[in-house]
Amino acid sequence: MDLARFSRTVAPLGFFVVGLLPSVLGLDFGYHSSESLEKFLKAVNQNYPSITHLHSIGKSVAGRDLWVLVLGRFPTKHTIGIPEFKYVANMHGDEVVAREMLLHLIEYLVTEYGKNSEIEQIINSTRIHILPSMNPDGFEASDPPNCMFSNGRFNKNMFDLNRNFPDAFEANTAEIQPETQAVMDWMQNENFVLSANFHGGAMVASFPYDNSNSAIAAKGVTPDQDVFRHLAKTYSLNANMSRSDGCDDSNRFEDGITNGYSWYPVKGGMQDYNYIWGQCFEITLEISCCKYPPASSLQNFWAINRPALIKYMKQVHLGVKGQVFDIRRNPIANAIVEEVGRSHICPYRTNQNGEYYLLLLPGNYTLNVTVPGSKSITQKLELPAGQQLYSARNYDIVYPGPTVRATSPTQAASCPKAVSVSSNNGAMPLKPTTFALSFLATLLPTMVLPQTH
Ligand SMILES: *[C@@H]1O[C@H](CO)[C@@H](O)[C@H](O)[C@H]1NC(C)=O
Ligand SMILES: *[C@@H]1O[C@H](CO)[C@@H](O)[C@H](O)[C@H]1NC(C)=O
Ligand SMILES: *[C@@H]1O[C@H](CO)[C@@H](O)[C@H](O)[C@H]1NC(C)=O
Ligand SMILES: *[C@@H]1O[C@H](CO)[C@@H](O)[C@H](O)[C@H]1NC(C)=O
Ligand SMILES: [Zn+2]
Repeated sequence: MDLARFSRTVAPLGFFVVGLLPSVLGLDFGYHSSESLEKFLKAVNQNYPSITHLHSIGKSVAGRDLWVLVLGRFPTKHTIGIPEFKYVANMHGDEVVAREMLLHLIEYLVTEYGKNSEIEQIINSTRIHILPSMNPDGFEASDPPNCMFSNGRFNKNMFDLNRNFPDAFEANTAEIQPETQAVMDWMQNENFVLSANFHGGAMVASFPYDNSNSAIAAKGVTPDQDVFRHLAKTYSLNANMSRSDGCDDSNRFEDGITNGYSWYPVKGGMQDYNYIWGQCFEITLEISCCKYPPASSLQNFWAINRPALIKYMKQVHLGVKGQVFDIRRNPIANAIVEEVGRSHICPYRTNQNGEYYLLLLPGNYTLNVTVPGSKSITQKLELPAGQQLYSARNYDIVYPGPTVRATSPTQAASCPKAVSVSSNNGAMPLKPTTFALSFLATLLPTMVLPQTH
């Protein structure tokens, strides 16, 4: 019996499916506590052991596990040539829609595998990591329904996790929180290529940089702007964001996308950390005007977001990927592989298998390959339009120098902690204190507070 289909039919009528059925597949359209979220993920893993893997990447301040469900043909480990993808939701505990969307996405992916060839090909060609809640303590502390800012935004130590990462443009003195550290460790263990980070309180797909300084010629603009605009539009246009009337008085964004810095600067954000330190292209998705809307709206949110969630995952296959070898066919780790004109603040390097993944739109490119201690070589490459579907172009590179023994990646050590500029230019707005925010919220209950992502 197809329990998923059954639940989709019955749940909207108000039956409490989860309680009645032994299977996990009848995920209802309601909010799930940390306990039922954990139960659901464990049941998914038990029912679909060959394509899922469940693990905790660490604990919140209050000791709640940060559960990640991994989906793929080989879910427990990286496979050469299969890119790593992630979705992260609920880092602001009171922005809750995507937390539920990711649970529904998980249910959809596992139940469609074997029935729907598109989903099967996505799972076969990608390793997908899903962290439905990065801030479970904040979620539990949030009082629904509440469209505006609440203290559930913060972790239990009252830190904003999206201001808690190392920042390349100015010093971030905020003490790194357990939830942040867990994500940083996770990124160290997996070579993520593409990611999205979900929020609420606006309707827009926002892309790096979120911060900047005078060392960046065009403020806030990355060398991968074309790719980021494409990625952001892939989500916004497929989720009808561009058609939204905006949220109350806030901005209307052309095509439903914006550069993060030009919207408002964020210091210590996760998106820039992914792009700069993690070699992972991450965008920030604001998918609901209301941060914590009534549960009755969740089914509609799922209908709107599902096509975008699927299309966005497929973008991990843009561009080119391959391995760098020496002339004896030993993989070279730690080689810098970048497109000429797109050098990154922390150069993008090959992993321990000598693999590289570069997200690029169709076009003609020149790859620049540098093995530490040797001179750079360049290679011209065409990425034809309309080629990528479930694999980037595969392009291995044999480095013609003397044999180099594989070294382990040392990127974290070699990348500067911050892009140097003269400090104290006074351009950055001060982060409002929690007190000030709560005070303002009391004083002006209808005021739209700027903080969403
Ligand atoms: C996915 O992989 C499985 C196992 O290798 C294979 O049987 C199946 O045909 C693949 N599906 C598609 C759509 O390629
Ligand atoms: C998106 O917008 C189009 C045009 O207004 C509409 O036909 C479609 O139903 C919308 N999709 C969803 C899922 O609401
Ligand atoms: C190639 O990359 C190396 C290392 O990042 C850099 O020093 C060099 O300037 C680059 N060459 C070109 C042509 O971009
Ligand atoms: C790459 O360059 C060639 C020669 O100029 C051109 O014919 C081709 O269309 C280009 N390919 C792409 C994808 O732009
Ligand atoms: Zn947020």
